[in-house]
Amino acid sequence: MSQFLSNCSVDALATSAQSLLEGSLVAFPTETVYGLGADATNAQAVARIYEVKGRPTDHPLIVHIADLKYLEQWISDIPEYAIALAREFWPGPMTLILQRSELAKDFITGGQDTVGIRIPDNSLALGLLEAFHKLGGPGVAAPSANRFGQVSPTTAEAVQEELGNYFTDIDLVLDGGPSVVGVESTIIDCTGGLPRILRPGAITREMIEEVSGNKVSDSYEDKSNDVKHKEIRASGSLENHYAPKAKVLLDQQPVDGSGFIALESTNTPEGVIRLASPKSVEDFARVLYESLRKGDHQNLETIYVEQPTGEGLALAIRDRLARASSNFSPPEGFLLRMFQK
Ligand code: TXA
Ligand code: MG
Repeated sequence: MSQFLSNCSVDALATSAQSLLEGSLVAFPTETVYGLGADATNAQAVARIYEVKGRPTDHPLIVHIADLKYLEQWISDIPEYAIALAREFWPGPMTLILQRSELAKDFITGGQDTVGIRIPDNSLALGLLEAFHKLGGPGVAAPSANRFGQVSPTTAEAVQEELGNYFTDIDLVLDGGPSVVGVESTIIDCTGGLPRILRPGAITREMIEEVSGNKVSDSYEDKSNDVKHKEIRASGSLENHYAPKAKVLLDQQPVDGSGFIALESTNTPEGVIRLASPKSVEDFARVLYESLRKGDHQNLETIYVEQPTGEGLALAIRDRLARASSNFSPPEGFLLRMFQK
Protein backbone atom coordinates (compact mmCIF):
# COMPACT_ATOMS: atom_id res chain seq x y z
CA MET A 1 0.00 0.00 0.00
CA SER A 2 1.25 3.49 -0.79
CA GLN A 3 0.46 6.89 0.68
CA PHE A 4 -1.89 9.00 -1.39
CA LEU A 5 -1.24 12.76 -1.31
CA SER A 6 -3.70 15.30 -2.71
CA ASN A 7 -3.50 19.12 -2.60
CA CYS A 8 0.29 18.84 -2.50
CA SER A 9 1.88 21.79 -0.70
CA VAL A 10 5.47 22.91 -1.15
CA ASP A 11 6.24 20.99 2.07
CA ALA A 12 4.64 17.84 0.73
CA LEU A 13 6.73 18.14 -2.44
CA ALA A 14 9.90 18.58 -0.39
CA THR A 15 9.01 15.46 1.64
CA SER A 16 8.30 13.55 -1.57
CA ALA A 17 11.65 14.62 -3.01
CA GLN A 18 13.34 13.41 0.19
CA SER A 19 11.53 10.06 -0.21
CA LEU A 20 12.85 9.79 -3.77
CA LEU A 21 16.36 10.39 -2.45
CA GLU A 22 15.86 7.61 0.09
CA GLY A 23 14.87 5.15 -2.64
CA SER A 24 11.06 5.33 -2.58
CA LEU A 25 8.91 5.36 -5.68
CA VAL A 26 6.83 8.51 -6.16
CA ALA A 27 4.06 8.45 -8.76
CA PHE A 28 3.33 11.96 -10.01
CA PRO A 29 1.13 13.74 -12.54
CA THR A 30 2.48 15.10 -15.81
CA GLU A 31 0.59 16.83 -18.61
CA THR A 32 0.73 13.62 -20.71
CA VAL A 33 0.10 10.73 -18.29
CA TYR A 34 1.09 9.90 -14.70
CA GLY A 35 4.68 8.75 -14.23
CA LEU A 36 6.19 6.27 -11.76
CA GLY A 37 9.25 8.10 -10.48
CA ALA A 38 12.53 6.98 -8.92
CA ASP A 39 15.94 8.56 -8.41
CA ALA A 40 17.52 8.02 -11.84
CA THR A 41 20.96 7.43 -10.31
CA ASN A 42 19.81 4.84 -7.75
CA ALA A 43 20.05 1.33 -9.24
CA GLN A 44 17.93 -0.26 -6.51
CA ALA A 45 15.17 2.30 -6.71
CA VAL A 46 15.10 1.98 -10.49
CA ALA A 47 14.98 -1.81 -10.16
CA ARG A 48 11.79 -1.37 -8.13
CA ILE A 49 10.20 0.56 -11.03
CA TYR A 50 10.68 -2.53 -13.20
CA GLU A 51 9.35 -4.79 -10.47
CA VAL A 52 6.25 -2.70 -9.80
CA LYS A 53 5.53 -2.24 -13.51
CA GLY A 54 6.37 -5.83 -14.43
CA ARG A 55 8.46 -4.48 -17.28
CA PRO A 56 11.43 -6.26 -18.95
CA THR A 57 14.52 -5.02 -17.16
CA ASP A 58 16.69 -3.96 -20.07
CA HIS A 59 14.08 -1.53 -21.28
CA PRO A 60 15.03 2.19 -21.28
CA LEU A 61 13.41 4.82 -19.05
CA ILE A 62 12.91 8.54 -19.61
CA VAL A 63 14.80 10.85 -17.22
CA HIS A 64 12.71 13.83 -16.11
CA ILE A 65 14.37 17.12 -15.18
CA ALA A 66 12.99 20.52 -14.10
CA ASP A 67 15.04 22.82 -16.30
CA LEU A 68 17.43 22.93 -19.27
CA LYS A 69 20.31 23.64 -16.89
CA TYR A 70 20.06 20.03 -15.65
CA LEU A 71 20.34 18.59 -19.18
CA GLU A 72 24.06 18.82 -19.77
CA GLN A 73 25.08 16.37 -17.06
CA TRP A 74 22.98 13.61 -18.69
CA ILE A 75 24.28 13.85 -22.25
CA SER A 76 27.55 13.84 -24.15
CA ASP A 77 26.39 15.49 -27.37
CA ILE A 78 23.44 17.47 -28.71
CA PRO A 79 22.80 18.62 -32.28
CA GLU A 80 21.71 22.21 -32.98
CA TYR A 81 18.22 21.18 -34.04
CA ALA A 82 17.68 19.40 -30.70
CA ILE A 83 18.66 22.55 -28.81
CA ALA A 84 16.07 24.45 -30.85
CA LEU A 85 13.41 21.83 -30.06
CA ALA A 86 14.27 21.86 -26.35
CA ARG A 87 14.08 25.67 -26.20
CA GLU A 88 10.75 25.76 -28.00
CA PHE A 89 8.84 22.79 -26.58
CA TRP A 90 10.14 22.29 -23.01
CA PRO A 91 8.49 22.18 -20.58
CA GLY A 92 6.16 20.09 -22.71
CA PRO A 93 5.03 16.72 -24.08
CA MET A 94 8.31 15.88 -25.84
CA THR A 95 11.13 13.43 -25.06
CA LEU A 96 14.50 13.81 -26.76
CA ILE A 97 16.75 10.79 -27.29
CA LEU A 98 20.37 11.97 -27.05
CA GLN A 99 23.86 10.48 -26.69
CA ARG A 100 24.25 9.65 -23.00
CA SER A 101 26.91 10.77 -20.53
CA GLU A 102 28.50 8.62 -17.82
CA LEU A 103 25.69 9.62 -15.47
CA ALA A 104 23.09 7.72 -17.55
CA LYS A 105 23.86 4.17 -16.52
CA ASP A 106 22.82 0.95 -18.26
CA PHE A 107 20.00 0.49 -15.75
CA ILE A 108 18.37 3.64 -17.18
CA THR A 109 19.21 3.25 -20.86
CA GLY A 110 18.71 -0.50 -21.16
CA GLY A 111 22.39 -0.76 -22.09
CA GLN A 112 22.03 1.60 -25.05
CA ASP A 113 24.37 4.53 -25.59
CA THR A 114 21.47 6.98 -25.66
CA VAL A 115 19.25 8.48 -22.97
CA GLY A 116 15.70 9.85 -23.15
CA ILE A 117 15.14 13.22 -21.43
CA ARG A 118 12.00 15.25 -20.79
CA ILE A 119 10.93 18.41 -18.94
CA PRO A 120 7.22 17.90 -18.19
CA ASP A 121 4.74 20.78 -18.26
CA ASN A 122 2.91 20.26 -14.98
CA SER A 123 3.37 22.44 -11.92
CA LEU A 124 3.31 19.54 -9.46
CA ALA A 125 5.83 17.55 -11.51
CA LEU A 126 8.10 20.57 -11.86
CA GLY A 127 7.78 21.34 -8.13
CA LEU A 128 8.76 17.78 -7.25
CA LEU A 129 11.67 17.76 -9.72
CA GLU A 130 12.92 21.16 -8.54
CA ALA A 131 12.78 20.02 -4.90
CA PHE A 132 14.67 16.86 -5.87
CA HIS A 133 17.36 18.86 -7.69
CA LYS A 134 17.69 21.06 -4.59
CA LEU A 135 18.60 17.93 -2.61
CA GLY A 136 21.29 17.15 -5.18
CA GLY A 137 19.29 14.69 -7.30
CA PRO A 138 20.17 14.93 -11.02
CA GLY A 139 16.87 13.58 -12.38
CA VAL A 140 13.86 11.32 -11.93
CA ALA A 141 13.38 8.21 -14.07
CA ALA A 142 9.69 7.75 -14.80
CA PRO A 143 7.82 5.44 -17.12
CA SER A 144 4.05 5.68 -17.36
CA ALA A 145 2.62 4.43 -14.03
CA ASN A 146 0.83 1.36 -15.39
CA ARG A 147 1.56 -2.37 -15.47
CA PHE A 148 3.57 -3.29 -18.58
CA GLY A 149 1.41 -3.32 -21.72
CA GLN A 150 -1.66 -1.83 -20.04
CA VAL A 151 -3.39 1.51 -20.49
CA SER A 152 -1.42 4.50 -19.14
CA PRO A 153 -3.04 6.27 -16.16
CA THR A 154 -4.23 9.86 -16.51
CA THR A 155 -5.47 10.20 -12.90
CA ALA A 156 -4.04 9.34 -9.49
CA GLU A 157 -6.93 6.89 -8.95
CA ALA A 158 -5.94 5.06 -12.12
CA VAL A 159 -2.35 4.79 -10.81
CA GLN A 160 -3.67 3.27 -7.61
CA GLU A 161 -5.84 0.87 -9.58
CA GLU A 162 -2.88 -0.21 -11.76
CA LEU A 163 -0.12 -0.41 -9.19
CA GLY A 164 -1.75 -0.29 -5.72
CA ASN A 165 -1.11 -4.00 -5.15
CA TYR A 166 2.57 -3.66 -5.98
CA PHE A 167 3.47 -0.56 -3.92
CA THR A 168 4.90 -0.76 -0.42
CA ASP A 169 4.25 1.73 2.37
CA ILE A 170 7.37 3.78 1.53
CA ASP A 171 5.90 4.66 -1.88
CA LEU A 172 3.84 7.77 -2.65
CA VAL A 173 1.19 8.76 -5.17
CA LEU A 174 0.79 12.50 -5.78
CA ASP A 175 -2.65 13.53 -6.94
CA GLY A 176 -2.67 16.46 -9.35
CA GLY A 177 -5.99 15.82 -11.06
CA PRO A 178 -6.44 14.55 -14.61
CA SER A 179 -3.60 14.90 -17.15
CA VAL A 180 -4.45 17.56 -19.72
CA VAL A 181 -2.86 16.04 -22.84
CA GLY A 182 -3.78 12.41 -22.18
CA VAL A 183 -1.36 10.57 -24.49
CA GLU A 184 2.35 10.04 -23.89
CA SER A 185 5.03 12.46 -25.08
CA THR A 186 6.35 12.59 -28.63
CA ILE A 187 9.68 10.76 -28.63
CA ILE A 188 12.26 12.21 -31.01
CA ASP A 189 15.50 10.44 -31.84
CA CYS A 190 18.11 13.22 -31.99
CA THR A 191 21.15 11.00 -32.49
CA GLY A 192 21.28 11.40 -36.27
CA GLY A 193 21.61 14.26 -38.73
CA LEU A 194 17.83 14.70 -38.79
CA PRO A 195 15.22 14.45 -36.04
CA ARG A 196 13.13 11.30 -36.22
CA ILE A 197 9.84 10.57 -34.49
CA LEU A 198 9.89 7.26 -32.59
CA ARG A 199 6.51 7.78 -30.92
CA PRO A 200 3.96 10.36 -32.12
CA GLY A 201 2.38 12.70 -29.57
CA ALA A 202 1.11 16.23 -29.02
CA ILE A 203 4.30 17.77 -30.44
CA THR A 204 3.54 17.02 -34.06
CA ARG A 205 5.72 16.48 -37.08
CA GLU A 206 4.67 19.88 -38.47
CA MET A 207 5.73 21.59 -35.22
CA ILE A 208 9.09 19.79 -35.22
CA GLU A 209 9.77 20.64 -38.85
CA GLU A 210 8.96 24.28 -38.32
CA VAL A 211 11.24 24.68 -35.31
CA SER A 212 14.11 22.46 -36.37
CA GLY A 213 14.10 23.63 -39.99
CA ASN A 214 14.51 19.97 -40.92
CA LYS A 215 12.43 17.36 -42.65
CA VAL A 216 11.34 14.72 -40.15
CA SER A 217 10.92 11.04 -40.80
CA ASP A 218 8.17 9.14 -39.00
CA SER A 219 10.21 6.03 -38.55
CA TYR A 220 7.71 4.54 -36.14
CA GLU A 221 5.73 3.87 -39.31
CA ASP A 222 8.66 2.73 -41.39
CA LYS A 223 11.20 0.81 -39.37
CA SER A 224 12.82 -0.82 -42.37
CA ASN A 225 15.12 1.90 -43.61
CA ASP A 226 17.56 2.51 -40.84
CA VAL A 227 19.85 0.14 -39.02
CA LYS A 228 20.46 2.52 -36.15
CA HIS A 229 16.77 2.83 -35.44
CA LYS A 230 16.32 -0.92 -35.46
CA GLU A 231 18.66 -1.08 -32.50
CA ILE A 232 16.53 1.31 -30.51
CA ARG A 233 14.15 -0.38 -28.13
CA ALA A 234 11.03 1.59 -27.38
CA SER A 235 8.41 -0.45 -25.56
CA GLY A 236 5.67 1.90 -26.68
CA SER A 237 6.48 0.85 -30.21
CA LEU A 238 5.61 -2.78 -29.52
CA GLU A 239 2.40 -4.13 -30.86
CA ASN A 240 -0.13 -5.00 -28.19
CA HIS A 241 0.42 -2.08 -25.85
CA TYR A 242 -1.88 0.47 -24.21
CA ALA A 243 -4.48 -2.32 -24.06
CA PRO A 244 -7.52 -2.51 -21.78
CA LYS A 245 -9.04 -5.88 -20.82
CA ALA A 246 -11.87 -5.33 -23.28
CA LYS A 247 -11.26 -6.13 -26.91
CA VAL A 248 -10.82 -2.90 -28.89
CA LEU A 249 -12.25 -2.76 -32.43
CA LEU A 250 -11.64 0.19 -34.72
CA ASP A 251 -13.94 1.88 -37.22
CA GLN A 252 -16.52 -0.90 -37.32
CA GLN A 253 -20.25 -0.86 -36.72
CA PRO A 254 -20.67 -1.46 -32.96
CA VAL A 255 -22.89 -4.32 -31.80
CA ASP A 256 -25.48 -4.19 -29.00
CA GLY A 257 -24.14 -4.01 -25.45
CA SER A 258 -20.64 -2.96 -26.45
CA GLY A 259 -18.82 0.27 -25.56
CA PHE A 260 -18.42 3.12 -28.03
CA ILE A 261 -16.00 6.04 -28.26
CA ALA A 262 -16.31 8.63 -31.04
CA LEU A 263 -16.30 12.37 -31.60
CA GLU A 264 -19.41 14.19 -30.43
CA SER A 265 -20.51 14.67 -34.03
CA THR A 266 -21.15 10.91 -34.38
CA ASN A 267 -24.48 9.66 -32.99
CA THR A 268 -24.64 6.74 -30.60
CA PRO A 269 -26.03 3.65 -32.35
CA GLU A 270 -28.97 2.04 -30.60
CA GLY A 271 -28.15 -0.42 -27.79
CA VAL A 272 -24.55 0.75 -27.51
CA ILE A 273 -22.92 2.16 -24.35
CA ARG A 274 -21.37 5.54 -25.11
CA LEU A 275 -18.12 5.86 -23.12
CA ALA A 276 -17.03 9.27 -24.44
CA SER A 277 -18.10 12.01 -26.84
CA PRO A 278 -15.03 14.25 -27.18
CA LYS A 279 -15.62 17.59 -28.90
CA SER A 280 -12.24 17.85 -30.60
CA VAL A 281 -9.13 15.80 -31.33
CA GLU A 282 -7.43 17.35 -28.26
CA ASP A 283 -10.40 16.34 -26.17
CA PHE A 284 -10.25 12.84 -27.69
CA ALA A 285 -6.63 12.40 -26.59
CA ARG A 286 -7.42 13.73 -23.13
CA VAL A 287 -10.29 11.32 -22.40
CA LEU A 288 -9.20 8.26 -24.40
CA TYR A 289 -7.42 6.23 -21.70
CA GLU A 290 -9.97 7.07 -19.02
CA SER A 291 -12.76 6.00 -21.39
CA LEU A 292 -11.07 2.65 -22.07
CA ARG A 293 -10.77 2.17 -18.30
CA LYS A 294 -14.44 3.04 -17.90
CA GLY A 295 -15.26 0.22 -20.33
CA ASP A 296 -13.26 -2.19 -18.18
CA HIS A 297 -15.00 -0.98 -15.00
CA GLN A 298 -18.29 -1.85 -16.67
CA ASN A 299 -16.89 -5.26 -17.63
CA LEU A 300 -17.57 -4.64 -21.30
CA GLU A 301 -16.30 -7.35 -23.59
CA THR A 302 -15.75 -5.07 -26.56
CA ILE A 303 -15.13 -1.35 -27.06
CA TYR A 304 -15.62 0.11 -30.53
CA VAL A 305 -13.72 3.27 -31.39
CA GLU A 306 -14.38 5.55 -34.33
CA GLN A 307 -10.97 7.08 -34.85
CA PRO A 308 -10.30 10.75 -35.53
CA THR A 309 -8.89 11.40 -39.00
CA GLY A 310 -6.10 13.74 -40.05
CA GLU A 311 -2.51 14.38 -39.01
CA GLY A 312 -0.99 15.81 -35.82
CA LEU A 313 -2.45 14.58 -32.55
CA ALA A 314 -4.96 12.38 -34.42
CA LEU A 315 -1.97 10.37 -35.63
CA ALA A 316 -0.85 9.79 -32.04
CA ILE A 317 -4.35 8.67 -31.08
CA ARG A 318 -4.49 6.20 -33.99
CA ASP A 319 -0.99 4.94 -33.13
CA ARG A 320 -2.08 4.05 -29.57
CA LEU A 321 -5.40 2.60 -30.72
CA ALA A 322 -3.71 0.39 -33.31
CA ARG A 323 -1.66 -1.14 -30.51
CA ALA A 324 -4.54 -1.26 -28.03
CA SER A 325 -6.54 -3.22 -30.60
CA SER A 326 -3.75 -5.56 -31.67
CA ASN A 327 -4.42 -9.27 -31.54
CA PHE A 328 -0.72 -9.87 -31.12
CA SER A 329 -0.23 -11.77 -27.87
CA PRO A 330 3.33 -12.92 -27.35
CA PRO A 331 3.94 -16.33 -25.77
CA GLU A 332 5.21 -16.37 -22.17
CA GLY A 333 8.77 -15.04 -21.93
CA PHE A 334 8.79 -13.82 -25.53
CA LEU A 335 9.29 -10.16 -24.67
CA LEU A 336 12.13 -10.86 -22.30
CA ARG A 337 13.92 -12.98 -24.88
CA MET A 338 13.33 -10.34 -27.52
CA PHE A 339 14.91 -7.63 -25.39
CA GLN A 340 17.78 -9.76 -24.24
CA LYS A 341 19.02 -10.10 -27.82
O1 TXA B 1 4.73 11.17 -21.65
C1 TXA B 1 5.61 10.38 -21.32
O2 TXA B 1 6.63 10.20 -22.00
C2 TXA B 1 5.40 9.60 -20.01
C3 TXA B 1 5.49 10.57 -18.85
C4 TXA B 1 5.42 9.89 -17.51
O3 TXA B 1 6.65 11.36 -18.97
N1 TXA B 1 6.39 8.57 -19.90
C5 TXA B 1 6.37 7.46 -20.65
O4 TXA B 1 7.35 6.54 -20.31
O5 TXA B 1 5.55 7.26 -21.53
P1 TXA B 1 7.32 5.03 -20.81
O6 TXA B 1 8.53 4.38 -20.19
O7 TXA B 1 6.02 4.43 -20.52
O8 TXA B 1 7.56 5.17 -22.34
C6 TXA B 1 8.77 5.74 -22.73
C7 TXA B 1 9.24 5.15 -24.02
C8 TXA B 1 9.48 3.67 -23.91
O9 TXA B 1 8.89 3.07 -25.05
C9 TXA B 1 10.98 3.55 -23.93
O10 TXA B 1 11.40 2.35 -24.52
C10 TXA B 1 11.37 4.77 -24.74
O11 TXA B 1 10.49 5.75 -24.30
N2 TXA B 1 12.73 5.20 -24.45
C11 TXA B 1 13.25 5.64 -23.29
N3 TXA B 1 14.58 5.85 -23.40
C12 TXA B 1 14.90 5.55 -24.67
C13 TXA B 1 16.10 5.54 -25.42
N4 TXA B 1 17.26 5.87 -24.88
N5 TXA B 1 16.03 5.16 -26.70
C14 TXA B 1 14.86 4.82 -27.27
N6 TXA B 1 13.69 4.77 -26.62
C15 TXA B 1 13.71 5.14 -25.34
MG1 MG C 1 4.35 3.40 -21.00
